[in-house]
Amino acid sequence: MFGFKYYTPTKVVFGKETELKVGELIKEFGGKKVLIHYGGGSVIRSGLMDRVTGVLDKEGIEYIKLGGAVPNPHLSLVYEGIELCKKEGIDFILAVGGGSAIDSAKAIGYGVTNEGDVWDFYDYKRVAEACLPIGVILTIAATGSEMSDSSVITKEEGLVKRGYSSDYGRAKFAIMNPELTMTLPDYQTACGCTDIMMHTMERYFTNGGNMEITDSMAEGLLRTVKANALILNKDPKNYDARAEVMWAGSLAHNGLTGCGNDGGDWMTHKLEHELGGLYDVAHGAGLAAIWGSWARYVYRNCLHRFKRFAINVMGVEEAGTDEEIALKGIEAMEDFYRSINMPTNLRELGVKATDEDLKEMAHKCAVGVGGEMGSARVLNEEDMLAIFRASM
Ligand code: NZQ
Ligand code: ZN
Repeated sequence: MFGFKYYTPTKVVFGKETELKVGELIKEFGGKKVLIHYGGGSVIRSGLMDRVTGVLDKEGIEYIKLGGAVPNPHLSLVYEGIELCKKEGIDFILAVGGGSAIDSAKAIGYGVTNEGDVWDFYDYKRVAEACLPIGVILTIAATGSEMSDSSVITKEEGLVKRGYSSDYGRAKFAIMNPELTMTLPDYQTACGCTDIMMHTMERYFTNGGNMEITDSMAEGLLRTVKANALILNKDPKNYDARAEVMWAGSLAHNGLTGCGNDGGDWMTHKLEHELGGLYDVAHGAGLAAIWGSWARYVYRNCLHRFKRFAINVMGVEEAGTDEEIALKGIEAMEDFYRSINMPTNLRELGVKATDEDLKEMAHKCAVGVGGEMGSARVLNEEDMLAIFRASM
């Protein structure tokens, strides 16, 4: 068991109609002129934007709007947002949407408050020393960006997708009304559930410093999301299931399920980021398409964790060798992905990659992680290529 720092400063306001509290929350954190940052327009179509601007008008809070954050959000829009904020004297960013709008908002926040090119942070050249205060109204349970220290941006030139983590970027508040997620397409709901589970699994499949309290919370979270993803697959308007998944999304990525271990494996995410950068796939679907191949490649090196996962999360019977039990757990997880219409390989994901493409992704991934990475098993470029090939 390792020591750890657990820092989650985000104020969470959870439940029905909580978006109506946005004005008082912005004031509480000192916002006077706000950039409302959002995605491709779902928040306008759902009527949420009108409700939010109505509250700001009533509270006398000035605002301007910038939409257009796409899934795998682009650096070019971040630059545009930085210029806009500087020109308009913005002192607070309100992200209304999912991980893409939130991550783009964080990047804009870094760009406004730090000199030089904001991409330097994502390129691991230097670290940020500040960020504009960020508030969030969450519309999809998935990335956990509403409570995480991370932001993931894609640089269009070279299609490079990279993450940057800093406590400065953590949201001041996160408004979470599960009802807001009811307009999601089923595919995005399933992608979100997959991502939430993966954030916990990345921290669970490690060879370093596991802790019983953390493991038990992680397993409970995984069982809960799995059960409620199946409910939402049949009954997308189920409020309680939406609420379980939404809160799980934040807890899965605010650090809680990693306390006491070595920080996690994270290689499924790193491999997916290459897919997202090159093929612009939905993040959760990309994770599902890679995970089985990754798991079969590494499980012998982390057998005790895969066995425990099989029994405690997937409900596999404790019969046979450890290896047989672990493999049954991996198969059960893939069956679960299929049951919520998630892909289990790159073909099902719709990616037609040549071997040259796979080599390029493996190379970029290895460069991105500084050569090698992983805790369930340390992977180098050759291993990454083998996993990409197995996932075809
Ligand atoms: O853009 P709009 O029109 O809003 O539509 C979005 C988008 O098409 C739609 N949507 C969201 N809420 C909706 C809705 N449609 C109808 N009703 C609603 N209530 O769903 C689509 C996906 O939205 P997006 O924000 O892209 O999804 P997600 O939250 O999964 O974010 C994905 C991005 O976050 C990154 C991913 O790599 C990807 O770039 N991640 C960020 C992390 C972090 N900051 O901590 C961690 C993650 O591992 C992840 O890498
Ligand atoms: Zn993720």
